Amino acid sequence: MSQKTSVLTFKNAKLNNEKITMLTAYDYSIAKLMDESGIDSILVGDSLGNVVLGYEDTISVTMEDMIHHGAAVSRGAKNALVVIDMPFMSYQTSIYDALVNAGRLMKEGRAGAVKLEGGKTVCPQIQAITNAGIPVMAHLGLTPQSIHAFGGHRVQGKTEEAAKKLLEDARAVEKAGAFAVVLECVPSKLAALITKELTIPTIGIGAGNQCDGQILVYQDLLGMFSDFTPKFVKKYANVGEIMKEAFKEYKNEVHSGVFPAKEQEYVISDEIIEKLY
Ligand code: KIV
Repeated sequence: MSQKTSVLTFKNAKLNNEKITMLTAYDYSIAKLMDESGIDSILVGDSLGNVVLGYEDTISVTMEDMIHHGAAVSRGAKNALVVIDMPFMSYQTSIYDALVNAGRLMKEGRAGAVKLEGGKTVCPQIQAITNAGIPVMAHLGLTPQSIHAFGGHRVQGKTEEAAKKLLEDARAVEKAGAFAVVLECVPSKLAALITKELTIPTIGIGAGNQCDGQILVYQDLLGMFSDFTPKFVKKYANVGEIMKEAFKEYKNEVHSGVFPAKEQEYVISDEIIEKLY
């Protein structure tokens, strides 16, 4: 996928059995690097609350936070489809709120699509938003905005009843018009079954490799976030350690006077300086 990615690219990827790559980002420079690396789609996740703002969960993230960071990511992503998360209570309260807030993420955040959490209960919102011409990505399984209802970070869909509900929710969000669905912390065999049953792509995070695409939080992938590391994370680099080494070296060089050196200085003629005494 080298042209501007859209919901059509997602559809075609599923039809052609091509994997979709997604990562989260929260600012311009990181979005630009991901875009230049050919990542298909960037999610401005409300995981912003954890990895950028330092909250314990995603509950306190606001529309203003999502618009501010979403707009920065959109400026950096020339080809990748930018999806912005609808934060807690920006869509659960009513269809009207969902429409107004999805619209703000498109107009002010310059999103290409929005994502919201939940199954059947939020289908009226998914339908209304898609009817307004805004593509919706759904999110099932471990939905972090309901963390207090789940009682913690737990794998979802493990019992027969829970697995059935997850499959029904997946069918419902597809029927309501979602163009893709994130499956988070779902047993891989169940995610594979859902992937086979749906015509829209599934994007897995802790849901095995049979999903149509994958997503990770970039700080997890780069080893930059140590508060907690879920089992499904693979660290592709230890950037956190590299950063800490660089910060320490900078500190030492400032203390010892090695930095800044001549090559980092601006010059002025001695005559001008002499005239100042
Ligand atoms: O907020 C987020 O980063 C997410 C992904 C983990 C799917 O929803």
